[in-house]
Amino acid sequence: MRYEGKAKKVYATDDEQRYVVEYKDDATAYNALKRGTIQGKGVVNNAVSSVLFEMLAEHGVPTHFLERISDREQLVRAVEIIPIEVIVRNRAAGSFAKRYGVDEGLELDPIVIEWCYKSDELGDPPLNDATAVALGLATPDELEDLFELASTVNDTLLPYFEERGLELVDFKLEFGRTADGDIVLADEISPDTCRLWDLASGERLDKDRFRRDLGSVEEAYQEVYRRVVEGAEPRPIAGADA
Ligand SMILES: Nc1ncnc2c1ncn2[C@@H]1O[C@H](COP(=O)(O)OP(=O)(O)O)[C@@H](O)[C@H]1O
Ligand SMILES: [Mg+2]
Repeated sequence: MRYEGKAKKVYATDDEQRYVVEYKDDATAYNALKRGTIQGKGVVNNAVSSVLFEMLAEHGVPTHFLERISDREQLVRAVEIIPIEVIVRNRAAGSFAKRYGVDEGLELDPIVIEWCYKSDELGDPPLNDATAVALGLATPDELEDLFELASTVNDTLLPYFEERGLELVDFKLEFGRTADGDIVLADEISPDTCRLWDLASGERLDKDRFRRDLGSVEEAYQEVYRRVVEGAEPRPIAGADA
């Protein structure tokens, strides 16, 4: 194994340009202060992320995704991860709502794209462009690419989720450099990395159910799987208060 993260394991393969990523059921929140398990999460996130990365590639976004090879595993291009978490916000929620003292759900116009330094030890502190460049995390040209790619991802995902009865409130992306120096979308897009609210009820169908002990955590992940992977009609999740 090359690396074990909080949600996934990364394995080398015979081809040094390719890794296998295995999705786990382990869940963490608040910089790993809260830990637990969400049964079936790895299977859901592997499938959801695979579907979304394939769809994004069709819309011209270069990605690391090659193939889903089992329930929990996918084959990806090996990249050097750029240690910048790219956060796209359509509505205020989570740390943003807290930081600026606004209600969760406040619509943001224009939408907000933020950078954070990907560092668990430091608690993923916010970065501006100068800081990211001065710390050697990315070049100014790369930051421009990240901004453009993140905008395209948002423009592509928003209607895709909406057709499935889901509001994409915010999400986090990671990008990497291939051996050729190209920037590609990496990591995952899943209910772990997106805030997804049911369009009809406002019910949260993402990791906030785990973070905030809202109950019906597994059911929420399964509902996203039904809608995104199986194309099923929206339905309320069993046993959850909206
Ligand atoms: N294509 C890739 N090549 C190399 N590393 C990757 C790739 N895609 C994702 N990663 C990295 O795999 C690691 C494991 O993922 P995860 O468990 O989510 O880690 P973390 O605890 O950092 O969130 C992360 O550091 C992530 O950046
Ligand atoms: Mg991660």
